[in-house]
Amino acid sequence: MGPRQAAAPNPRPLSAARTRGYIPFMTVLEIARLGHPILLARARPVEDPSAPAIRTLARDMIETMREAGGIGLAAPQVHASLRLVVALPITSRETCREVEPLVLVNPELEALDGGIEEALEGCLSIPGLRGLVPRARRVGFRGFDLAGRPIAGEAEGLPARILQHELDHLDGVLFPMRMTDLRSLAFESELHHLEGGSEPPSVAAMPSAVGLGR
Ligand code: NI
Repeated sequence: MGPRQAAAPNPRPLSAARTRGYIPFMTVLEIARLGHPILLARARPVEDPSAPAIRTLARDMIETMREAGGIGLAAPQVHASLRLVVALPITSRETCREVEPLVLVNPELEALDGGIEEALEGCLSIPGLRGLVPRARRVGFRGFDLAGRPIAGEAEGLPARILQHELDHLDGVLFPMRMTDLRSLAFESELHHLEGGSEPPSVAAMPSAVGLGR
């Protein structure tokens, strides 16, 4: 998974041969990393959420997310500039592998009452780094499923954070661009230096639970 030289119009198989043997019809896609221009572009709406190609993309995104140990993934991260995200509606990291991922096509979010809270985030496109990001604690979401049916709901806490992070990807926004204090940007291996400080408690309290994409 090295850095890419240029944007590609379609997701490209990374290890299809490797996965095809035991997970038929699923492909682990290459993840775009910080510096690739597709991560800064505004993704275009999906014209037909029920199109077979979109279903395939969503399925491969779920497989890619799981393979990478992530808990959310947006289509631009696999070189598809489309408004599609997958996210695990998890309440704890221990159970997140078992629940069915939420697939949202052409999603929209609105912040609900509940205030703003800060917590550590990471991103599969920025491997190894974490930072404190303020997000709305509660959000309402709506979009379409892979059958083209409208879906809507509310999320709170970590699932709300995941959705905000992934929808940001659709508008070319990466988590460091949401940080209000870049001093908390740190490699995972250095996070222990932040523990025990006078602020903020969330660093020590949820280092692994809030890692989006790692
Ligand atoms: Ni991300």
